[in-house]
Amino acid sequence: MARLGFIGAGPVGTAFAVNLAQRGYQVVGIFDVNREAADRLAGDVAGSRVFDQAQALVEAADIVFVTTPDDMIAKVAGALTWRAGKAAVHCSGATTVHAFDSAAAQGAAVGAIHPCQSFAGRDQAIANLPGATFAVEAEEPMRTTLTGVAKALGGDVVYLTSDDKALYHAAACIAAAYAYTLVDVATDLWKSFGKTKAEATKAYVPLLQGTVNNIASVGFPGCPSGPIMRGDVKTIERHFVALRKHAPDVLPLYKALGLRTIPVGLAKGTLSEGKAAELKALLERTE
Ligand SMILES: NC(=O)c1ccc[n+]([C@@H]2O[C@H](COP(=O)([O-])OP(=O)(O)OC[C@H]3O[C@@H](n4cnc5c(N)ncnc54)[C@H](OP(=O)(O)O)[C@@H]3O)[C@@H](O)[C@H]2O)c1
Repeated sequence: MARLGFIGAGPVGTAFAVNLAQRGYQVVGIFDVNREAADRLAGDVAGSRVFDQAQALVEAADIVFVTTPDDMIAKVAGALTWRAGKAAVHCSGATTVHAFDSAAAQGAAVGAIHPCQSFAGRDQAIANLPGATFAVEAEEPMRTTLTGVAKALGGDVVYLTSDDKALYHAAACIAAAYAYTLVDVATDLWKSFGKTKAEATKAYVPLLQGTVNNIASVGFPGCPSGPIMRGDVKTIERHFVALRKHAPDVLPLYKALGLRTIPVGLAKGTLSEGKAAELKALLERTE
């Protein structure tokens, strides 16, 4: 069994180290500029220890996960000495394996395994990593090794090339990171009618859970609901009046999302071509 090392003991490094150790992988050590984070992770993984130098960890491990912030991956790996028999892996969605060009030039195997999941904190990351879909960018034999890691974590695998990575990550941002933004915008609107953001958030959690359930159980194009699906032009006009009065800065976002929803309604079959044209004209109208 390959010996694993982790440079970077944030939520992602922690989630991989703890879950892989629980599944029989040998995690030998951790290095982090934040000693407290490294100590905490080593305390959670029996048989591992904290290293004072990243290079010593490279010597002790076969596969080194560089789970630092994205901008540090190439810098951290580029400052280390590698050789054949060693492997460098990162978990970034947007960064390609070319961040490890210097390690590869020295004979190391290189790869990336990105969990398609959102990690808000350490404990939540440990709980949420298993079952994610993992995007793997690697040549053989690392492709097989990282596929094994994904399978051990109970996840599906998608294989990407370097060219795919930025678009793949932009898509994940739209689906998840910007979903947080949309909820932030929506919950702020409640303040205009005298309610708190906390009340709004409490109301939206079951709404969002129901939405996710509909995506999972019904899928596209059948799952979406809302006034555009029904062709409710008058309702959209009322939204415009309210937003123009209370949150005019939100109108461009509302219009862009509304326009992008029209083809979904047409695909679902609940929105007629006539109502779609009316809605399009309304949503494209400049104020
Ligand atoms: N968070 C997510 O939702 C998510 C999801 C999928 C993939 N990822 C990817 O997973 C990777 C790690 O993400 P994360 O959220 O765990 O990052 P993070 O919260 O920033 O944690 C990274 C850890 O690395 C440490 N570090 C920074 N510079 C270092 C260096 N030069 N040498 C050693 N350690 C260093 C940091 O210490 P300090 O705190 O002192 O800076 C921190 O403890 C990134 O590539 C990210 O894109 C993240």
